[in-house]
Amino acid sequence: MIRTKIIGAGHYVPENVVTNHDLAKLITTSDEWIRERSGIEERHFITPGVHNTTSMGTMAARMAIERANLKPEDIDFIIFATLSSDYYFPGPGVMLQRELGIKPTGALDVRNQCSGFIYGLSVADAYIRSGIYKNILLVGSETQSIALDMTDRGRNTAVLFGDGAGAVVLTATENENEGILSTHLYAEGEHADQLCLKMPGTGAHKMIYPEMMDSEDILPIMNGNFVFKNAIARMTEVVLEALAKNNLTTDDIDMLVPHQANLRITQMVQRQLRLPDERAYSNIAKYGNTTAATIPICLSELWEQGRIKPGQLYALVAFGSGFTWGSVLLRW
Ligand code: COA
Repeated sequence: MIRTKIIGAGHYVPENVVTNHDLAKLITTSDEWIRERSGIEERHFITPGVHNTTSMGTMAARMAIERANLKPEDIDFIIFATLSSDYYFPGPGVMLQRELGIKPTGALDVRNQCSGFIYGLSVADAYIRSGIYKNILLVGSETQSIALDMTDRGRNTAVLFGDGAGAVVLTATENENEGILSTHLYAEGEHADQLCLKMPGTGAHKMIYPEMMDSEDILPIMNGNFVFKNAIARMTEVVLEALAKNNLTTDDIDMLVPHQANLRITQMVQRQLRLPDERAYSNIAKYGNTTAATIPICLSELWEQGRIKPGQLYALVAFGSGFTWGSVLLRW
């Protein structure tokens, strides 16, 4: 039986560090409010013109490919998850392919926001297990900073997000004791407007028109409290589902890697799963929410710290705009 395993992880965040104090110079907020409500202390923002979603994704991908002891030409398929692509079209998968000089091969763009990496893992797993592709590069990269509403109107979202990228290389293994055990994906479109950015899009009479500049629809909107409650419930539920499916319990989890949306969300999930701090990874203090990039950045840091050991059970879980959510259970 073929299984899918991660053989390399990498990440990149831009150099420009923006602290809560820096944000408090632009909008009515405070370091105390942001820390207390979200656990975030700082985030990284790109320098426009220097980096974008593809360039950060490329840096993360290079690191992941190197750690996998492969070369770009060994990649058989690319999956790129983002909500902030460089162009409206084409998507970033082909841009990354161009940057890395990867041979003509498939490049799939995933648009599932904060759940993008989990959705991408699920697709990669299906391709690899079915024998269609052997080595898949999966990237999550986001440029949030240039789309945030840096006025008091947008302060509930502006303080939460950051820029960055993470990537993994996946390959086939015939060892039954390692790899992805199962993936679980969900969406609930009735809540699409609870966390969204409407324009530019085809919902208006024209994609771009002068009056749209005065519309609030060009800015991200979020019903923070509703998102908060749903995130806790859905993330907990989908981890428990993955464990039940594999006849495992929370005691078996060596590390929970949750999407980094808000420290209070992940602490609540952790509490419901009865996991101590050393078995749940968090780096939100340094990066904020980097959407599709949070989980691969966590994996790359864990890799770097030498904390990933063969045989360990990892539960990856995400929730985001859509609503979309999902989990992946994997054994290293
Ligand atoms: N600085 C200071 N005050 C702020 C603020 C900021 N950046 N943003 C909002 N406030 C104010 C609000 O205006 C409100 O003021 P009021 O009581 O005078 O009306 C007050 O703080 C409380 O706002 P509320 O939205 O109830 O706070 P909260 O405790 O729910 O925390 C979030 C807000 C956004 C941090 C929280 O709802 C959250 O994290 N939600 C989920 C977000 C998320 O994870 N999104 C991505 C999903 S993948």
